[in-house]
Amino acid sequence: MQEVNLKEKYLKFFESKGHKIIPSAPLIPENDPTCLFNSAGMQPLVPYLKGQPHPLGTRLTDVQKCVRLTDLDEIGDKTHHTFFEMLGNWSLGDYFKKEAISWSFEFLTKVLNIPVEKLAVTVFEGDETIPKDEEAANIWKSLGIPEERISYLDKDNNFWIAGEEGPCGTDTEIFYWRSNDPVPKKHDPKDERWVEIWNNVFMQYEKHPDGTITNLPKKNVDTGMGVERTVAILEGVDDNYLTSIWKDIIDNIVKMSQTTYEENPKSIRIIADHIRTAVFIAADDSGIKPSNTDQGYILRRLIRRMIRHAKKIGIDLESGFERTLAEMIIEKYKDYYPELTKNKEVVLDVLTNELKKFNRTLEKGLKEFEKMVTHLQGNRMDKDLAFKLYDTYGFPLELTVELAHEKGIEVDEEGFAQKFKEHQEKSRAGSEQKFKGGLSGNGEMETKYHTATHLLNAALKIVVNKDVHQKGSNITPERMRFDFTCDHKLTEEEKKKAEDLVNEWIKEALPVTVEEMKKEDALKSGAECMFIEKYPDMVTVYSIGNVSKELCGGPHVKNTSELGHFVIKKEEASSAGVRRIKAILK
Ligand code: SER
Repeated sequence: MQEVNLKEKYLKFFESKGHKIIPSAPLIPENDPTCLFNSAGMQPLVPYLKGQPHPLGTRLTDVQKCVRLTDLDEIGDKTHHTFFEMLGNWSLGDYFKKEAISWSFEFLTKVLNIPVEKLAVTVFEGDETIPKDEEAANIWKSLGIPEERISYLDKDNNFWIAGEEGPCGTDTEIFYWRSNDPVPKKHDPKDERWVEIWNNVFMQYEKHPDGTITNLPKKNVDTGMGVERTVAILEGVDDNYLTSIWKDIIDNIVKMSQTTYEENPKSIRIIADHIRTAVFIAADDSGIKPSNTDQGYILRRLIRRMIRHAKKIGIDLESGFERTLAEMIIEKYKDYYPELTKNKEVVLDVLTNELKKFNRTLEKGLKEFEKMVTHLQGNRMDKDLAFKLYDTYGFPLELTVELAHEKGIEVDEEGFAQKFKEHQEKSRAGSEQKFKGGLSGNGEMETKYHTATHLLNAALKIVVNKDVHQKGSNITPERMRFDFTCDHKLTEEEKKKAEDLVNEWIKEALPVTVEEMKKEDALKSGAECMFIEKYPDMVTVYSIGNVSKELCGGPHVKNTSELGHFVIKKEEASSAGVRRIKAILK
């Protein structure tokens, strides 16, 4: 099924249920400086979910363009995208659970003809403040979803909020059995063959900046269904990039390259994903251009990474390939997003100008990178080298990190961020710079995550064994990622224990202290460090109560009580003998 078809069917279906079709809001949020891009269909509707009357009434439906950057470094796999479209239907104080659930069910089973046998759902299990969602479960049962296919899960799974504050509520998520294996009778939320396709959020609460939750004036419904994933399911493929959405674009990339999809899926997916996102960002009426801050920096990073991968697979960078691909994307999406046609020339110019600019230094930069690597002692690239690649050759830090990782080398990302900041301060004294979107900065959240990283490192030494060592880390304002040596997949128990330990230390309100000492004294005192040979003779050591001591440049919070609640979101393999944990603070 073509995605256009899915979108049309969805909008028509909800129109037949009394909904008004609204156009997608811009990708760059209006009047919200705290947020770089719209990342969910509900975001532009927040004022209406909070009670303001919508001019088109109380039932709305749309296809919203979204950009999510939290998983930027996972792009290249089968399922992640930086840009995606989200189908949604809303009730603004109109219908609630019964209609929302029944219509999702009807659309899936009657319009898309998905067999009920392949569906499972999750509902909220209840906690001290919000009761178990028996109502939702009973509606599902009345529609023919058996009890064994209903899982009752906690707040991490069945409570939805965009970020830290705003309209929120319990949700019920719908899962589809994506596998040729026989469908098990019982739903197992841990079995990854069950993939989420639709989320129905019952938005009846509002979370405030001080953490309190109150009732919204009206009970709303917010639903979201990802176009890319649903099309992949309907077309029976487990690689989103093999659907009809991408076919022409991928075929063209392959044709222009010296390789095949099978040989280089990662580079090809990155090119396809990044150029589509770049086209949509550049086409937004806000007029974003590649730059070194905020959305402009994201646009630059996406285009430059795309160019690097194009070069890698033998695409002629002077052939105008970026225009060919951009034109295909514009053609494909122009009916839903009129700004693509309106701003077509702007988009093409942005891409070509950025390509020309980067192409002047890319070749030399890559040679310089190779030279640096051959002279490297150990497997860590220091901040000065990374900064030279940035400053002289226009390599965004993340591009250097990616190149380095391909060779098993780590980059001193924190040192780079520090140096970058100093540089900015020097060149623009007094002006405050923001470090958003993956460039490890020193904002409040990054600082908290940095301290949480030390706690997690200490916890894993206790829970797994004392030989656990940090192999890398990456911090954004939204989450932390921590790579560590470990020869096995962590058990549920190990994960839970590590998480509990970190939360215990947070509760204990441990002081974080810093001291300067000689490197050898630091080592004697048992301080943890990643690459001792890379440190100068005098080092800075951060201690957290007496649970952690690490050589580190900071910055950190003053007391662990500032961190909030620590949650491990994911544990997975990173490379041989190295595991990766993604965690958040709530
Ligand atoms: N806001 C919810 C989500 O993004 C449902 O639309 O998943």
